[in-house]
Order: sequence, then C-alpha cells, then structure tokens
Amino acid sequence: MRFDFVVAAVAASVLSFAGVTAAQQPIVIKFSHVVAIDTPKGKGADYFKKLAEERTKGRVKVEVYPNSSLFKDGEEMEALQLGSVQILAPSVAKFGPLGVREFEVFDLPYIFDSFEELHKVTEGPVGKKLFQKLESKGITGLAFWDNGFKEMSANKPIRMPADYKGLKMRIQSSKVLGDEMKALGAIPQVMAFSEVYQALQTGVVDGTENPPSNFYTQKMHEVQKYLALTDHGVIEYAVIVNKKFWDGLPPDIRTTLEAAMKDATKYANDIAKKENDDALAAVKASGKTEILTLTPAEKAAMKKALVPVHKENESRVGKDTIAEVYKETGFKP
Ligand code: LMR
Repeated sequence: MRFDFVVAAVAASVLSFAGVTAAQQPIVIKFSHVVAIDTPKGKGADYFKKLAEERTKGRVKVEVYPNSSLFKDGEEMEALQLGSVQILAPSVAKFGPLGVREFEVFDLPYIFDSFEELHKVTEGPVGKKLFQKLESKGITGLAFWDNGFKEMSANKPIRMPADYKGLKMRIQSSKVLGDEMKALGAIPQVMAFSEVYQALQTGVVDGTENPPSNFYTQKMHEVQKYLALTDHGVIEYAVIVNKKFWDGLPPDIRTTLEAAMKDATKYANDIAKKENDDALAAVKASGKTEILTLTPAEKAAMKKALVPVHKENESRVGKDTIAEVYKETGFKP
C-alpha cells in the first residue's frame, strides 16, 4: 500500500470518528440560579432538567447550578449576555440594571392580592410586552415562575410603619423596593441574595423581606427574631435564555425544550404556594422566629404608608404599564 494512501485513509477514519463524537456531544445548557434546591425555583429548575434530558433523549444536557454556585446577583445577567450561562431565572426585581425598568411594576406594594391576579399579568398581554423588551438586550423570555408573597423580618417586632424607622433593610436591586423601605422610614441596602444570611448575622443589616421558602431555606430564621406576615409584595421570576443560543438551536430541539419549559412552569407554579406554606410551618416549628400576624388595623396602616410608592415610581416603571396592571388586577390606588 502506498504511504500517502495509508495516511489519507487514517486521516479519513480519524475525521469520521471525530465527526461521530461531535455528533454525539450533547448540547449543554447551564442553568444558574441563586436559591436553594428545596424551593419552588430550585425544584422547577431540576424538573426542567429532567424533562429536557428525557425528551431530547440525551441530546441536551442541562447543568443546574443552585445557590449562586456559578454566578450571583450582579454577575449573572452579564454572564447570560456573554453566553457563559444559557438560562437564568432571576427575580423580576433584578431587571432594572439591565435597563428594563418596567419589570419593577411587580414590586409595587400591594399591587397583587392573590396568585390569580398575578397570573393575569404574567400570562396576559403585559407579560408578553415585558418579554418583548428583553429581545434588544439579547435575551429571550421563556416563562414566568412564582415564588410567593413577601413577609418582613427583623430582630424587633414590626407591626406598624413606625416600627421600621431607622432599620437597615436588605433589598434586591430595585428602585421601587428602595422607595418602599424609605416610605416606612427604613434604610434600604441593596445586596446580593448570597450575602443576606451573613449580613443579618453580623448586623450589617437589621432585616429583610422574602417569601417563607427563601427565608427558611437560607436559614434566616436563625438570625431573625420576628417575621411579620405583611404579604405586601411578591417574588416572581422570569426564566430567560441567551437569545443567540436559543435561536441557534436545531428547531426540533427548541420545540421540545419549549414544551419542557411549559410543563416545568406548570409544575413550579403548582407547588409554589405549598412550598411557602410548608416553609412557614417549619419556621414556626423551629421556635427561633416569632411569626407576627397583623391585625386589620395594622395591615391598613402598612398599606396606607406603602401605596404612595406607586405614584412616586410612575415615571420609572411607566404610567401605561402600571395602568395595564391595575386593569388586570382591579387594583384601585
Ligand atoms: C432575593 O434576592 O431576595 C430573591 O430574588 C432571591 C430569589 O431568587 O428568590
């Protein structure tokens, strides 16, 4: 056999082997989030992974990174735009720094009374419009996922607006939430979720707001003496993907993943309320944090102090967006 023929044959077989290997390499999707595995979002992400891998028969591999183990707040949006991670599910309170302030409409105090009202927005025209605003940022919105209603915590009983005076309260990076704390006479401190436990423990901040599932799974009950059931707002997530990556997927894979996302969304939203009820029961059972149920008069006082935040943020969030949400939820300022 001629030498050059052997070389060509070997090269061809190496190339074809490489081709086969390349064809068998799964498409890797990194899905990064900041909460514990045992939360509505943590479980939703794991369920999406399971469905995506099963239904694509291994052509897609989803690597879920919980608890800020890959990226934390303040890093993850940029990482998504750069393509270092493919899927995120940040709270909608974290979209302001990206330049889409309309997402902060969800942070307006008391704008939602129930999950039903919330879903009219997330599953209706407002939700669609918000997602359209992401496209120019290189991001595609896939779904909205629920967590739950937020409660306030501190190391002193917080029942009335006056009780918040001078407290340093950790918030997410939303101006609306900053105004909310200021309306109570508190001092807002923007901080990454991964740093909250330690900040509460060391007294860098005095208190915070979050649904029970986050409060319990981050062990905040170990470092907060009171949890007031204010239900003054929600934590809602937008599941987002790098647009270029998503558009570049083989169409059959993308269709399968869209269906998997739809089913994972239903699953995450179906478990959200129970996860929070269970977490609240666990906080109670720990005996470490006292749960404060507000009287109707205390609730009314909190609402009176906080609703003016809507008007203050009209120009930031958009008068039209606020009006559209009012229309869906029936909220009357
Ligand atoms: C927070 O930062 O408090 C929340 O957005 C965390 C989360 O993702 O639920």
